Amino acid sequence: MSNATIAEMTAAHQMGNYTRFPVAFLRGDGARLFDADGKEYLDFLGGIAVALLGHAHPDVTRAIAAQAASLVHVSNLFHVPVQSEVARLLSLATTGGKVFFCNSGTEANEAAIKLARKWSADRGRTEAFEIVAIDGSFHGRTYGSLSATGQPKFHEGFGPMVPGFRVVPFGDLTALDAALNGNTCAFLIEPMQGEIGVRMHPPEYFETAARLCREREILLIADEIQTGMGRTGAMLASKRFGVTPDIVTLAKGIANGLPLGAVVARDEVAASFGPGSHGSTFGGNPVCCAAAKVVLETVTAPGFLAEVRRKGERLVDGVREIAGRRADIVGVRGMGLMIGIEMAIETKPIANRALANGFIVNACSGNVLRLLPPLTVTDAEIDRALSLLEAALPEERRS
Ligand SMILES: Cc1ncc(COP(=O)(O)O)c(C=O)c1O
Repeated sequence: MSNATIAEMTAAHQMGNYTRFPVAFLRGDGARLFDADGKEYLDFLGGIAVALLGHAHPDVTRAIAAQAASLVHVSNLFHVPVQSEVARLLSLATTGGKVFFCNSGTEANEAAIKLARKWSADRGRTEAFEIVAIDGSFHGRTYGSLSATGQPKFHEGFGPMVPGFRVVPFGDLTALDAALNGNTCAFLIEPMQGEIGVRMHPPEYFETAARLCREREILLIADEIQTGMGRTGAMLASKRFGVTPDIVTLAKGIANGLPLGAVVARDEVAASFGPGSHGSTFGGNPVCCAAAKVVLETVTAPGFLAEVRRKGERLVDGVREIAGRRADIVGVRGMGLMIGIEMAIETKPIANRALANGFIVNACSGNVLRLLPPLTVTDAEIDRALSLLEAALPEERRS
């Protein structure tokens, strides 16, 4: 079947909630993808920050196959050996504390929101149920996470939102100071806003917010669904800012493409999820955990994260070099291998041209290009991506 035939079938039988490129991939290998018409692509989107170790990583494939051959699912009524091991590794590699597993990013945030409210209620502070989030944030599509998401366009037509969420203006510590009051149980923050186009908080914002939370006994929830698992050159982006959150949410790259989400909370907070308080049928599924174990072992191996930082710098330096030759690149930002290129022009046509040339890059927020290559990307692939990126930029704007 060709790309076109598959696209027709999708349109005929699936709801129209996704805007899809007219391409269907059959196979992947590292940072490369191959479509149904036999065309090869260099993938700097990685399933939106999911293919952390690249497509079809042999160790991940082997672990998935071995686990699938022995046991796929048993439920959380029983102990699951590989799940226990992944929880141990994840806790060790992040903030310490205890882990809850689910299946996606939005579910991880739902769980974090519920945990924060329950923690407050357990302390007799039933009036402190409010979650403060930030304008421009993205936390997911289910009602709790959606209500926390600071982008009204995602709420349109789905109201009313869940009560008890307050969104503060981006980068405004005075507003945050006022919002974090006796009714607040938690402050929810992406260390770097991903979906809106890799937006960095002003210097000291995250650190100061963390201090305000600590002083007021308000929980700090870091949504590291996009920034976590080594993406920014540290296991958590929070670490790069010197912040230790009370609760961390993870998903996306945690199982290199299998559906797994996780919440890590410090022990005293995690204790609020007692028996029966929250759960998930599939959460922490053995096959997903088998993949996550390989991801964790790989990302925590000596030197791996230093390489991510080095490669991130190579990519950013290359983009800055291109920017130096042009008038339409307004800014280059990000950390590790999560990079946003802000342009003075619409970026969708650029992403379309790149795709036609065999390069996958994400256009977001109208005028940003987002680069999220696998952490295993090679120097040669970075250099090739830079040439393909420059080739996709409009000719007429070259200065
Ligand atoms: C920061 C952040 N939080 C939450 C989510 C939602 O994750 P999922 O699509 O797995 O529900 C995303 C997805 O883009 C995200 O980037």
